[in-house]
Amino acid sequence: MAEEQTLYRAYRPQQFVQVVGQAHVTRTLSNALAASRIAHAYLFAGPRGTGKTSTARILAKALNCRQGITSTPCDACPQCLSIIEGTSMDVLEIDAASRRGIDEMRELRERVRLAPAYSRYKVYIIDEAHMLTSEAANALLKTLEEPPSQVVFVLATTEPHKMPATILSRCQRFDFRRLPVSLIQEHLGRVAANFPVQVEPEALHLLALAADGSMRDGLSLLDQALTWAGEELRAEEVAELLGKVPAQRLEEAVQALRRQDLLALFRLVAELEEEGRDLQVFTRDLLLRLRGETRRCLREKQRLPAWLGRSLMALYQALGEMRLSSLRGLTLELAFLRLLAAPEERPPSLERVRALWPDVLQLVKESSPRLFGQLCLARVVGVEGRRLQLAAGEERVRETLRKDESQALLGEALGRRFGGEWEIEVLGSG
Ligand SMILES: Nc1ncnc2c1ncn2[C@@H]1O[C@H](COP(=O)(O)OP(=O)(O)OP(=O)(O)O)[C@@H](O)[C@H]1O
Ligand SMILES: [Mg+2]
Ligand SMILES: [Zn+2]
Repeated sequence: MAEEQTLYRAYRPQQFVQVVGQAHVTRTLSNALAASRIAHAYLFAGPRGTGKTSTARILAKALNCRQGITSTPCDACPQCLSIIEGTSMDVLEIDAASRRGIDEMRELRERVRLAPAYSRYKVYIIDEAHMLTSEAANALLKTLEEPPSQVVFVLATTEPHKMPATILSRCQRFDFRRLPVSLIQEHLGRVAANFPVQVEPEALHLLALAADGSMRDGLSLLDQALTWAGEELRAEEVAELLGKVPAQRLEEAVQALRRQDLLALFRLVAELEEEGRDLQVFTRDLLLRLRGETRRCLREKQRLPAWLGRSLMALYQALGEMRLSSLRGLTLELAFLRLLAAPEERPPSLERVRALWPDVLQLVKESSPRLFGQLCLARVVGVEGRRLQLAAGEERVRETLRKDESQALLGEALGRRFGGEWEIEVLGSG
């Protein structure tokens, strides 16, 4: 079957040392096996696609290998081979969530007393163990209270908090970790090296990021990418495959947020929808981009612009809402509306205008660096309603600021930042 040949099946780790990123688990297990210290029940908890089932199968081989109990099963004896092929009579994988799993659990209490047919240990690998029905959980608990000596249970679960405490307390627990991007990338690189395809490191990086902590997801994405690629797999193609929004579009969004340009943001959403982009991916990438910007500001000890913090919060909220709504475009537009089109009802105080003045200057700078230069020579001295009072010592500066063109530009910047229509009064400085 085609499914049997998928990359993540072909590259299932067969030895403890091949399990990536879970050394805290595999080392402890290896040491215990070397000392023949064997628990009756293990709990493998952790996110999906991080090696729980793979490790459980390695453990089953380690217990049953013809060499004797070992931390390095031979992978060649009939015991190891039958476990690899999934045909062992004594290593039973039960999916607790499935109908068949429920039946199998029902028979567990009688069957578990029978000695293993061909092996040293009978190993029950119970997947999705948090889904056990209460009847099945009870049967399991009774068994764990008086465990038969030649039976080992491995309970695997992505949601250990849903397991009954009575069962948890009878298991030796191992927590599998979400895999970091660097380890996934490295592993994908090793796997890709077996294919006659030139792979750009950046392409692997994108795949590893998209894997979101799961090696299985990483491998199946690589599988798709390799199927798709010709002699070369480039980052650009991977980005396309992942439905990613081109970097330039993200840049446009950042600029529009900075300018507080609602129209441009709405246009961008419409275009992305038109191009069939995944707006959730877009929102996530935009958030990561803004997060990078925030970190840069902090690292360079710059003031954090208000638009940045507020955009991050609004987009983060939108990303959460997108999980619940299929109207992703609308969700994003509402976030932009909340962010930009709700001018504060009351005019701001002098303190508030002073506090956000650098934002206003930044907005001016984008449309007129010259006016920005002149404004830097003026001070905010008063705010009366939406009338701003500026003072400048030099007549030359005052003249520039009084020009219609300057008033319009500054008025617009103030309107964007604080809402409403603004007047500007230019005074001599006292
Ligand atoms: N830590 C790892 N190191 C190397 N490969 C891994 C690792 N984790 C997962 N894989 C790859 O992903 C595939 C699936 O892994 P596995 O079945 O062990 O995950 P799991 O944790 O049991 O996931 P689930 O919770 O979805 O059942 C493996 O065949 C292997 O190719
Ligand atoms: Mg599994
Ligand atoms: Zn063996």
